[in-house]
Amino acid sequence: MEHEFWHERWSKKETGFHEGSVNKFLHDHWPELADAGASAQGVFVPLCGKAHDMWWLHDRGHSVIGVELSEIACKDFFEEAGEKAMVHPGEPFTTFKHDNLELWAGDFFQLAPGDLKHIRLVYDRAALIALPPSMRKHYVEHLTAIIPEGTRILLITLDYNTKITAPPFNVSDDEVQELYAADYDIEHITTNTLASDHPFTKRKGLIGATESVFRLTKR
Ligand SMILES: C[S@@+](CC[C@H](N)C(=O)[O-])C[C@H]1O[C@@H](n2cnc3c(N)ncnc32)[C@H](O)[C@@H]1O
Repeated sequence: MEHEFWHERWSKKETGFHEGSVNKFLHDHWPELADAGASAQGVFVPLCGKAHDMWWLHDRGHSVIGVELSEIACKDFFEEAGEKAMVHPGEPFTTFKHDNLELWAGDFFQLAPGDLKHIRLVYDRAALIALPPSMRKHYVEHLTAIIPEGTRILLITLDYNTKITAPPFNVSDDEVQELYAADYDIEHITTNTLASDHPFTKRKGLIGATESVFRLTKR
């Protein structure tokens, strides 16, 4: 999507994607991803919004870097938690820092490998699926270029059968294979079915949808 699309979502507070509490798949499957006793491992959260999940990761001892286009999201993230962040305006990123939790306001595609050299884990909820088909390959290629070998990713996708031209886009399990198999070992952890009376399927008028959770390890 164009940057303007997302800036408008944030300025109009049209942020239905924001969960406001810890994601259930993160809660249930993070322990399988992070090494036991290695909670200090750095976590990268691409297209992070103001996800509460980053506080959850921070509270478990992880250092966290989130990247997010919208400065509104970055400001809200700290303000809504009643925490203060040190703000360093800059190009291509303005950074917001609190303890070892950093939000970088700017474009994901401007990140360079040196920026994430201490990162060992990635949490992708509503990042890949926020991007239209034409951008997903570029997203995965760029992510692969900037994270170290051995990095593990918790990836959550969403699949449904109707063609919808706005995010969240449907990403099938086959597409996950196509996008990641060349550079990652892929484990499909679980699939969750959303019935037609689930708030998301209802809102979109879908018969049903499925969420899939993957653990990817960069070779
Ligand atoms: C669907 S939301 C998901 C946010 C978050 N992951 C969550 O679970 O709530 C996608 C987010 O990606 C941000 N975004 C879109 N394109 C971006 C880019 N190129 N660089 C950084 N952030 C981007 C948007 O502003 C939006 O907040």
